[in-house]
Amino acid sequence: MNFLALIEAKREGQPLAVGDIDALIREFTAGAIPDYQMAALLMAIYFRGLDPAETAALTQAMRDSGDVLQFPDDPRPLVDKHSTGGIGDKVSLPLAPVLACLGFRVPMISGRGLGITGGTLDKLDAIPGFQTRLPVKQIIRQVQAVGCVICGQTDRMVPADKKIYALRDVTGTVPSIPLITASILSKKLAENLSALVLDVKFGSAAFMPTRAAARQLARSMVTLGRQCGVNTRAMLTNMSTPLGRAAGNWLEVKESVDCLEGRGPADLEELVLTSAAHLLVQTNRAKTLRTAQAMAGACLASGAPRQKWDEMLAAQGADLAAFHRKLKPDTTASMVVALRASRTGYVSRCDARIIGEVIRELGGGRQIRDAAINHDVGVDQLVKPGERVDHGAVLARIHAAGATPAEAALARIERAFTLTARRPKVAPLVAETIL
Ligand code: URA
Repeated sequence: MNFLALIEAKREGQPLAVGDIDALIREFTAGAIPDYQMAALLMAIYFRGLDPAETAALTQAMRDSGDVLQFPDDPRPLVDKHSTGGIGDKVSLPLAPVLACLGFRVPMISGRGLGITGGTLDKLDAIPGFQTRLPVKQIIRQVQAVGCVICGQTDRMVPADKKIYALRDVTGTVPSIPLITASILSKKLAENLSALVLDVKFGSAAFMPTRAAARQLARSMVTLGRQCGVNTRAMLTNMSTPLGRAAGNWLEVKESVDCLEGRGPADLEELVLTSAAHLLVQTNRAKTLRTAQAMAGACLASGAPRQKWDEMLAAQGADLAAFHRKLKPDTTASMVVALRASRTGYVSRCDARIIGEVIRELGGGRQIRDAAINHDVGVDQLVKPGERVDHGAVLARIHAAGATPAEAALARIERAFTLTARRPKVAPLVAETIL
């Protein structure tokens, strides 16, 4: 193929033919196109964009670059949720067992942290013995037997995305709506789903800073998901404030267990139940979102998802006794310090970006690719906008690996909070839904 001609065509703003897109993904995955030429094409796409037909062709070619999960016939629909990522976003952890208990099959192929945002696999690595690298056969067997799995992409799933994402990361071509759409949906389409709910975040710590940009990405993914035969919906959710009251890998696992035991923070529970409710409606298991939310709420309250969580952990090699022992202490970090309110007032801001940066500096996230992370550090007991605090009350606790990082984090995290004399108006968590 004449790859140079394709780069030049896109540089001039011309659409690429479906056959050319198929060939370029096939050849790039096979190593027949050099990175410098692919990088040039990605930059041309970044500036010129892709139309819906090109985006669909790219997404399907990327999906087909590797294994697509093939499940046996079963009346339980295959469903999943994807979040664009945020601080304290642990929804996948309680959601997978809730969905399994609602009669779905959930092949939740997840990722690691990106930038300051946490990754589901990093959180699960904090569970003693839990395996996130599973072969395809085991993924399928576990989904059929348990109803849910949360694991990483195998080496043979969507290899084109792995190679392209690595290039985008170092060529300034990540923030392109068609490229993000193709990257996310190619991985979800490789799960062979019936229905998908997307949580597209906007706000200070989100990948898409503005609601308008989040809406554009959500529309692009919903349209393409449907075109590819997956009933897709998106929620636009606020990520200016962390989700829940805890952020940091182990602390988020603990908060997920609290949620499964009915003691979780209200915003986390809301997002878990709303995600489940959309999937119930999308698969015609409920007529309205309200009925579906009640079904999901009753399922959570029954305690069955908490049992299912342990079943999923055991199936993926976790040491359940060690896990339950690890849940008991207040912290697994070396030291805990508290940030206290310097005055009485209402919390009007709890900035997710600053909190994410603090956690990364504590060692809870990566500064460079493949760096080791400390699962025990993080922040909990976060106060949230709209809450009243008295002078001296705890605004957040920092779990650190020692006194020096704890003091540094304390100094930085103070800037994440604003207290005001008047109760602020609090924006809803789910700002809108794209159907
Ligand atoms: N997450 C992905 O998987 N791909 C992107 O392009 C952006 C976020």
